[in-house]
Parts: sequence; C-alpha cells; structure tokens
Amino acid sequence: MTAGGRFSGKRVLITGGLGFIGSSLAIALVHEDAKVTILDSLLPEFGGDFFNIEPVRSRVSVNISDMRDPHSLDILVKDKDYIFHLAGQVSHGDSMRDPKMDLAVNCVSTMNLVESCRRFNPDARLINTSTRQVYGVAQRLPVSEDHPVIPVDVNGINKLAAEYYHLLYDRTYDLRSTVLRLTNTYGPRQQIRNNRQGFVGIFIRQALKGEPIKVFGTGRQVRDFNYVDEVVEALLLAALTDDCYGKVLNLGAPTYHSLLDLVGILHELTGVAYELVPFPKDKKIIDIGDYYGDYSRFAQATGWQPQIDLQDGLARTIEFYRAHKKVYWA
Ligand SMILES: NC(=O)c1ccc[n+]([C@@H]2O[C@H](COP(=O)([O-])OP(=O)(O)OC[C@H]3O[C@@H](n4cnc5c(N)ncnc54)[C@H](O)[C@@H]3O)[C@@H](O)[C@H]2O)c1
Repeated sequence: MTAGGRFSGKRVLITGGLGFIGSSLAIALVHEDAKVTILDSLLPEFGGDFFNIEPVRSRVSVNISDMRDPHSLDILVKDKDYIFHLAGQVSHGDSMRDPKMDLAVNCVSTMNLVESCRRFNPDARLINTSTRQVYGVAQRLPVSEDHPVIPVDVNGINKLAAEYYHLLYDRTYDLRSTVLRLTNTYGPRQQIRNNRQGFVGIFIRQALKGEPIKVFGTGRQVRDFNYVDEVVEALLLAALTDDCYGKVLNLGAPTYHSLLDLVGILHELTGVAYELVPFPKDKKIIDIGDYYGDYSRFAQATGWQPQIDLQDGLARTIEFYRAHKKVYWA
C-alpha cells in the first residue's frame, strides 16, 4: 500500500519484527527499499513466526535474540537510521498473572534499547509502539493525549514507563523518539492460536472454527479498530515527520463500533453465531469499558487518515486466515 522509496537505502531495525505488526512493517519497508534487520526472541506463545515474513524472507536479515539481555542490542543498533520498537508482551491478563515477566519484557527491554542507542547510536530515530491501555477507564470520549493516564493493569503501567524512557532520552540526550499509542489493531499475521493477543483475534478464530463467539457483558461496549496496514503506514509517517519526535500521539479510527457490530460483520462473513456471557472476574477487574481515541494531533502532523473500514478489513483478514489455516489456527 506504500509508495516505493521513502526509505530507500535507509538502515532500519525492527524489534519484534517476526510478530504481527512488526512483520507487516518489515514487508512494507522492504517495498520501500529499506535495508531491514529484524530482532526477535521468538518467545513461545507470543506472536512471532518466521512465516510472517515469508514474502520478504530473502530480503531481510533476522537476529534471534532477547532484548532483556542488552549484548546483541549494542551491536544491532549501530549504524541504523531508524529503529521501530515493536517487541513487547501484549497480554493484559498475563501481565496480572506474571507481572515480573511483563516488567522485564516491556520495561527492561525498552531501557536496554534506549541505553544501547545512547551509547552506540545517538543519531538513530526511534519509533515506540505504546497502547491506549495506558489511559485506563475513559473519563470522557473520545480520549485525547491530555486525558489522565490511570492504567487498570500491570501492562498499562509498564507500557507507560516505556513511553517515559523514550521521552526522557529524547529530552535529555537528544535521542530522537516518538511514541504512538495504538488502539485495537487487527488483520493478517496476528497470532490467533491462543488467547494472548486480545479479543479481536479470539473472535476471528471462533468465527473461522464455526464456534459461537463468546461476548462478555452486553456486547454494547465500544472500541475503535485499525487494520494493520493503516498502522504500518502510521509508523512510517511518524518516522518521517520531524514534528512527531518528542511527542506521544494517539492512533484511532474515524468511526467506533460496539462488539456486537464486530460480531455482526463476522456473522455476515462466516455465518458464525454469538452468545452473551458474564464477564469472568479476572477480566472484569481490568476491563476499560467504552473507548475510542482522538487521533487528530497525529492526523494534523502527518496527514494520516485511515481508509479501510471494519467490514473491508475483516473481509481481507478472514480471507488471509482461510488461506493459511495450518500456520495460524488449525
Ligand atoms: N496488536 C494490537 O492491537 C496492539 C495494540 C496496542 C499496542 N500494541 C503494541 O504493538 C507492539 C507489537 O504488538 P503485536 O500485536 O505485533 O504483538 P506480537 O506478539 O505479535 O509481536 C511482538 C513480538 O515481540 C517479540 N518479543 C517479545 N519480547 C521480546 C524480547 N524480550 N526480545 C525480543 N523480541 C521480543 C515476540 O517474539 C513477538 O514476535 C507491542 O509493543 C504492543 O504492545 C499492539
């Protein structure tokens, strides 16, 4: 979807580049003529998979290592023009069950990254992927960047700390960093085999398997959704836009949907049924209720405007997973 050449000859490191969003970004950057290096630990049960980069496998270099250990980072950050930081622990539930793991993956790894850059490549430009989860329960909608940040789970706290490392190093060491707060991202290459990656992936798996989709609560809770290609374009634009550095910026969508809307589209695409079930207690305590974000600052800075609506994006997504059943959900 990207016009060729904006990153022509640029050396780019993608942490978490075998995962859902990171691999989609790697494919786009190869098409932009960038020299792409991927760093990924391939942690079991996370979203990393070599199959994700199949279309560009021979055109990227891959380093399997873990950012919790800084040693390979020190070497990998050298000489890079851009570093997109997508490695992370994304499961909110797991962050409550194993908070130290989330701390290590989301905070220690990020601290290692900014420290390696400070010491070995202070000219690199860093693009950090954070999450709307940092806001917690919305006090008003749409949620702008000025909204209080009161995370409801350990993951939100650690992602917030990771944002601050980037911003601090930007201010203190002139290590150019921008932070994007992503909202629900869906599309091809997301790991949907287990329940770690959020409800959209779970719903898609249930739809593909023809199992009734279990919707917690009334199903009237609203969210905004971005198709993964739109998020990739946002990451590229953020990297290229001077005005984004030193700032935290929301992504979002022009319209929001209830979970019942989402299930209704999946019903049209696959015939799947749904049932409403009470919230399990462990999910209820970290639920954020309704959310949709105000992304006007990012749109003004970059011209980014998502075009792919939920119907179209889910149709593309279902087509992808039907073609790759064995890899992702069989
Ligand atoms: N998918 C979404 O809806 C969403 C929403 C908000 C924010 N985000 C953020 O976007 C980023 C990417 O998410 P994703 O959905 O692609 O997740 P993903 O699980 O598909 O990808 C993350 C990748 O990071 C790798 N990784 C994890 N820990 C690592 C470590 N210590 N060292 C090296 N690699 C490591 C994993 O192996 C995996 O391949 C994350 O930072 C996440 O918090 C995603």
